[in-house]
Formats: sequence, structure tokens, C-alpha cells
Amino acid sequence: MRLLVTGGAGFIGANFVHQTVTERPDVRVTVLDALTYAGNRASLDPVTDRIEFVHGDVTDVQVVDRLVADSDAVVHFAAESHNDNSLADPWPFVHTNVVGTYALLEAVRRYDVRYHHISTDEVYGDLALDDPARFTEQTAYNPSSPYSSTKASSDMLVRAWTRSFGIRATLSNCSNNYGPYQHVEKFIPRQITNVLDGGRPKLYGAGANVRDWIHVDDHNRAVWEILDRGAIGETYLIGADGEADNRTVVETVLEILGRDRADFDFVPDRPGHDLRYAIDSTRLRTELGWAPRFRDFRAGLEATVAWYRDNEAWWRPQKAATEAIYANNEQDLE
Ligand code: NAD
Ligand code: DAU
Repeated sequence: MRLLVTGGAGFIGANFVHQTVTERPDVRVTVLDALTYAGNRASLDPVTDRIEFVHGDVTDVQVVDRLVADSDAVVHFAAESHNDNSLADPWPFVHTNVVGTYALLEAVRRYDVRYHHISTDEVYGDLALDDPARFTEQTAYNPSSPYSSTKASSDMLVRAWTRSFGIRATLSNCSNNYGPYQHVEKFIPRQITNVLDGGRPKLYGAGANVRDWIHVDDHNRAVWEILDRGAIGETYLIGADGEADNRTVVETVLEILGRDRADFDFVPDRPGHDLRYAIDSTRLRTELGWAPRFRDFRAGLEATVAWYRDNEAWWRPQKAATEAIYANNEQDLE
């Protein structure tokens, strides 16, 4: 099988490539990645001699056409992925997430190539903190941020191309991922590396917002289940029952690293900050037999902390610039 993985130098994509190369030696992997600030060629170092890497943009129709024509399937991870950045400058999100998806859809349509679209639970908006409900495949779209609205737009394109042109597509919406190779701008790596640097974690607002954490390897195993056995035209929600509020996550990170649990700062809240995400993944579990392997969030966090402690050379080059952006954002919000 010839598999094109877009965004394979990013967090989830790189872990997907590692997993694929290790567990599916019959798959020939080509990565297409623009190496934006979020893409890191070093994330693919452990597998570099077992894949083809193409430095290119998903909005470049010529590159996309050539690579899709030479593929049996495409998994589309590439995106602008960070909510805070989308508030500061939405255009790259519209361009990559919407126009990039359009370019891929037209190519898979032309060559009748199997397509899997990676998306997020944020397309459903948020839930109240005291609402027992969870998102299902039937929940109406209601995105809040420029990031999530562009992901919702891309999902709509996939659905329309499936119905109108009969492309062979599936779609998945996953909750918050954690694990190795995640950019230090994101919540968990930011706090781990702050503490490793002797600094203090930063909690937006009151730290009460809830995210539904899943280990990146469990997300990627679900993607393979959908590629193998998912029904064409269908959507699957991916989540591992990992709800935790942000304050608890920060306190756990501090505790794992031997610091006082109260050693954090509250900083101004993210505008429009979604309160709570929660996924009901019954469909994926019952129809495709998927189940998460990382069921103990604290154990998963401990492994992630250990990875950042052991891989400073990977994250150090991004840390100062990332914190400078946050310092600027904070000033604007004060
Ligand atoms: P990331 O920001 O870590 O990686 C994105 C990758 O895409 C980078 O390697 C970047 O260089 C590449 N890229 C960006 N623009 C590109 C372009 N125009 N052309 C080619 N490559 C480009 O993101 P991530 O956290 O790994 O997320 C991957 C996908 O999973 C995204 O579609 C995101 O919406 C989705 N998702 C993420 C999460 C999460 O918790 N991180 C949860 C659910 C869904
Ligand atoms: O739900 C899936 C989504 O999860 C993905 O689609 C996105 O690509 C991914 O970035 C993530 O979005 P969030 O906005 O939930 O993730 P982030 O890591 O930015 O923040 C997680 C929570 O932590 C959120 O409630 C905001 C809060 N936060 C974040 C940072 C960076 C803080 O309290 N302090 C921080 O410093």
C-alpha cells in the first residue's frame, strides 16, 4: 500500500508515521509537510531512511496532484492547529485548513484515491461544565474559534465531496491529544517545559476548563482501524474517556516533577475559551472494536514528562520564541 501522510512532521502525524513504519512494514509512506514553525524534520529522524519526505504545501495543487496520483490512500493531518494563533492571525488557518483540504479532495476525486480526514471535537463547540452530555456523531456543528471554524469548514467539504462526487472518504473527530513530539506551545508540553526550566505553569482564567485527553498512539490506532474497516462516507468520534480540568492537569505535572502543587500562575483567559469537550466514542468501539491502551492518564502523563526530560534537544530550540509570543499575547489581554 502506498500511503500519503500530510503533516507528517507535526505532532500527531509524526507519531502516526512512527507507528505505521513499526507496525505495518508493507506500507510505503510518503510524508508531505510544509515544515511551518510547527513542523519539525527531527521528529521523523528515527524513521527517516524508511519513508519518503516531500517538503511542500498542501495548497500547492501541482505537488498534491503528483503525490496523490502515486498513492493508494491519503491521511490528511496537515493543518494550522493552535487556537491562540488563530485568534492572533486567522488567515493561515483559512488558507491551509480550508484551501489545503480542497486541493486534496480534488486530487483524490481525480484519481479515485481513498481519503481519511483528521479532524477535531472542537467543531461541535463546547459543553457547559455541569452538563453530563458528550459529543456524538449526531451533535450539530457549532465551532467557536477561527481554528475550529476552519476545521469545521474542511469537514463540510469532505462530506460534500463524498455525497456529490462519490469520493471514498472517512472522517474522524478526536479530542485533545498528548504524548511525545508535541509542540511546546500546547498546554501540556508548555507546562512540563516551564517546570523543567524552573518556571511556573500558566493557567488561563480559573483553570476550570475541561479537556478530554487521549494518548496520541491511541488516536493513531483508531485512525488505522478506520482506514482498515471504516464505512466509506462515515464519521467516527475518537476519545478515551479522559476528562480532566486544566488545574488538575497542572497540579499533576507539578507533583510528578517534585514541585509544590500550588506553584502555578493564573494568567488572562483565552477570548472565547471553550469550556468543556467530551467525546462519546461508542460507535468506534462497538463497530470497529477499538479501545484505548492508555487508560491511566497519570501514567501517560508520567511517560510524557519523562520524554520531555530526556529530549530537551528536540524542544529547546522552540521554547524561547514560543514564550515570547505568549508574553506578547498576555500583554494584549491585560
Ligand atoms: P501540528 O501543528 O503539531 O502539526 C501540523 C503539521 O502540519 C506540521 O508539521 C506543519 O508543518 C504541517 N503543515 C501546516 N501547514 C501546512 C501546509 N500548508 N502544507 C503542508 N503541511 C503543513 O498539529 P497536530 O496537533 O499534530 O494536529 C494534526 C491534525 O490533527 C490537525 O488536522 C488537527 O486539526 C487535528 N487534531 C489535533 C488534535 C490535538 O489535540 N493536537 C486533536 C484532534 C485533531
Ligand atoms: O480538542 C482537540 C483540540 O485540542 C485540537 O483540535 C487542537 O489542535 C489542539 O490544539 C487542542 O486545542 P485546545 O485549545 O484544547 O488545546 P491547548 O493545548 O491550546 O489548550 C488546552 C487547554 O489548556 C485549554 O483549555 C486552554 C488551556 N491552556 C492552554 C495553554 C497553552 C492554559 O490554561 N494555559 C496555557 O498556557
